Amino acid sequence: MLTLLANAKINLYLEIIGSRSDGFHELVMVMQSVGLSDRITLKPLNAPTIHLNCDHPQVPTDHTNLAYQAVTLLQKRFPDRTNRQGGIEITIDKKIPVGAGLAGGSSNAAATLFGLDILWQLGLTRTELQALGAELGSDVPFCLAGGCAIATGRGEEVDVLPQHPLLFAVLAKYNSLSVSTPWAYKSYRQAFGKSYPPLNDTRSLAERRDRVHSGDMVKSIYAADIPGISANLRNDLEKVVLPAHHKVAQLKEIMTSASSIHSGLGTMMSGSVPTVFSLSKTEDDAQATLHAVREQIHDPDLKLFMAAFSSHGIATQP
Ligand code: C5P
Repeated sequence: MLTLLANAKINLYLEIIGSRSDGFHELVMVMQSVGLSDRITLKPLNAPTIHLNCDHPQVPTDHTNLAYQAVTLLQKRFPDRTNRQGGIEITIDKKIPVGAGLAGGSSNAAATLFGLDILWQLGLTRTELQALGAELGSDVPFCLAGGCAIATGRGEEVDVLPQHPLLFAVLAKYNSLSVSTPWAYKSYRQAFGKSYPPLNDTRSLAERRDRVHSGDMVKSIYAADIPGISANLRNDLEKVVLPAHHKVAQLKEIMTSASSIHSGLGTMMSGSVPTVFSLSKTEDDAQATLHAVREQIHDPDLKLFMAAFSSHGIATQP
């Protein structure tokens, strides 16, 4: 039996560069692991079946769950080595909010790939695991790398960055409010697609990607420049999600003012769904921001969390 902790992530930077021929968007993101984690337990079974249990009612326990798909992907890709292993029981103890743009499903899949590589002694390298992870979802390779990283392509090409000072994030999401990721990207394409480089213009795409690699956010991270990191937070999807969801726009305003009083650092929407985060240098500042937001928004549907930046994505638990 093997137990793993799978961290959530936030996007410190998400720039949409253009369309790709596979229908996805070409992105440049800076992702950061945060210490808000699900516990994944993998238990070998004698019978060749896959059982998935999860304590959260919104998480599917069938083949639509990415962790389940991680098992079938390994079985299909390595039949000789997995056939003699029997089945597996996956138990997910959910702490990462569901549908929150924090890569909960992707990190569960990453932990399952990572854990089965150990249990089934497949001997895969991290690069090999990340290539398999990319087949499951764009965020899975980052979840395997963890820490701080630039993610390009559709998000699956990961370059690890140095871990800048370990900041704290206050995360806020209306429990009942969800935004579909395909809707967010489609709306962005409808609104801003005219500014995309032509599909076959790989040179312009590469130039814009390279510009971000040496851009201000990445420079600030290399320099451990906290005000620089805060000033360069960016998420292009805010341009379509905030006007369509007044409640999220208002949440961002309230968090921005609470955070500017208590920590002086920035506030941004993470990913494509409406989780808003504010950065703080200390745990006390983060607590003060969280309380200030709670005092201004009494809605019990608003869930608030606090998490420290983490230097890893997946860890085994003794
Ligand atoms: O890869 P993932 O399952 O996270 O993507 C979900 C959806 O988000 C895709 O089906 C696509 O509509 C959109 N997407 C995109 N470009 C990306 C990543 C996601 O258009 N780079």
